Amino acid sequence: MEGFFRSFTRLGGVRGYSSVKKDLQIEGVKHAIAVASGKGGVGKSTTAVNLAVALANKFHLKVGLLDADVYGPNVPIMMKINSKPEVTEDRKMVPLENYGIKCMSMGLLVDTDAAFVWRGPMVGNALGKMVRDVNWGNLDILVIDMPPGTGDAQIAISQLLRLSGALIVSTPQDVALMDARRGVKMFSKVQVPILGFVENMSYFKCPHCGEPSFIFGKEGTRKTAAELGLDLVGEIPLEIEIRKGGDEGVPIVISAPDSVVSRAYGDLAQKVIDRLEELSKEQPRPEILL
Ligand SMILES: Nc1ncnc2c1ncn2[C@@H]1O[C@H](COP(=O)(O)OP(=O)(O)O)[C@@H](O)[C@H]1O
Ligand SMILES: [Mg+2]
Repeated sequence: MEGFFRSFTRLGGVRGYSSVKKDLQIEGVKHAIAVASGKGGVGKSTTAVNLAVALANKFHLKVGLLDADVYGPNVPIMMKINSKPEVTEDRKMVPLENYGIKCMSMGLLVDTDAAFVWRGPMVGNALGKMVRDVNWGNLDILVIDMPPGTGDAQIAISQLLRLSGALIVSTPQDVALMDARRGVKMFSKVQVPILGFVENMSYFKCPHCGEPSFIFGKEGTRKTAAELGLDLVGEIPLEIEIRKGGDEGVPIVISAPDSVVSRAYGDLAQKVIDRLEELSKEQPRPEILL
């Protein structure tokens, strides 16, 4: 068992997965979608978690959540899961389940407090195990919480599995939008359709006077999305309860399902479902080999 977990850190790499390229669809998983951005701290994990829960609770879909942020895995805290996954006889890990979501994260497998320098090929190897060596069962949607940036992990994910699409999360701030554009470019290079932009921390509604303040700017994400010919599929305000929900491991969609914010996550989930349906009616994409 220990050896199994230790093998996560062994050098191996994305190249070792070339055999997988033939069939990038994970068995039993209808759609895999990436929640990405160029920049860190814009709310990818928060969006991925609340979207996953909204898809499961509101739309009764079978949902999995893969934390692909090997550098700073946040899903265990945000989903309140903390035990090591069991390994079955066929050496598959059993994802941990909470709020009806099957979760897998590097945070469950290695001691994340330990100083650990991930080198490129190790990232691919670790992600490969979390994608392939997990008993996901039948899922309608596997939501993938991506690490920031457009580097090794992003390339590894697009080589390891067939993404039905990617959501780009950004704040309305110029620097975040600049990085978001980079994210869009990267996904288009590997021919992954962009499902749309999600503007996070859109505004802050003053709890005293009710006035909205546009802390990170106004309309920036909408404009950038329009310039790129993409849709704005979600607008999530900056809200204390969202942050608390993340820190306490009870997503706001669970703790306050009828709140304005939870409705916004529900709307986002609906748009994701619609977009995936539209895309599945389109011509199949060619397999991309990097
Ligand atoms: N809409 C929001 N309102 C309030 N806090 C938020 C919101 N979105 C994210 N946060 C908080 O901002 C921080 C960064 O969010 P996180 O989802 O971890 O970003 P990323 O995954 O992009 O690095 C976390 O502390 C999270 O709780
Ligand atoms: Mg994150």
